[in-house]
Amino acid sequence: MNIRLLCLASVLVFGGSPVPAAQKAHTPLEDQMEEINAAYRKLGRQVADAAKNADSLKQVAIIREHALAALKHDPKRKADVPAPEQAKFLSDYQAAMKAFVVTVDKLGAALTAGKNDVAVTVLQELKKAQEDGHRDFRRRKITFEEKAAEAARRNEEK
Ligand code: HEM
Repeated sequence: MNIRLLCLASVLVFGGSPVPAAQKAHTPLEDQMEEINAAYRKLGRQVADAAKNADSLKQVAIIREHALAALKHDPKRKADVPAPEQAKFLSDYQAAMKAFVVTVDKLGAALTAGKNDVAVTVLQELKKAQEDGHRDFRRRKITFEEKAAEAARRNEEK
């Protein structure tokens, strides 16, 4: 959501000049993740506060909806996986996303029961699921050292 606003702002500020394609191209999965991210961050600020439970439950519903939608999209990293391993990569991704939804439901149940201390712990489980999910299924950023090593390798081949 914020990134979309930023894109809109940059278009306005730069007199409608287009944002370079590489910056604005968003995968459908990234769109779902952006929605999950906004709701998750809001929960981080308010999940301990029982007075905010009604809104926290709305955020939980947003995460659930977009996690289910995310199930239908393939991560970009699939293209980096050798063809014979792609089916397993995808089914592992889907299993992890389904497990994430189970944890999201656990968070909803804790909030519905007014157990905010439990909800705080379950939010930590979602954080762990995010970290594991990104480690296993998100395309890795190539480090400067890796780029340099790749360039050195190419030079040696010349
Ligand atoms: C609290 C939970 C999570 C949050 C807040 C979150 C947030 C994000 C964000 C902000 C991005 C970058 C989006 C962009 O570049 O516009 C992203 C990407 C991604 N996330 Fe998550 N994520 C969560 C959980 C998960 C889980 C559980 C999985 C896998 C089971 C997952 C898999 C991915 C993948 C594969 C991408 C790269 C998108 C692509 O390949 O198109 N995320 N996530």
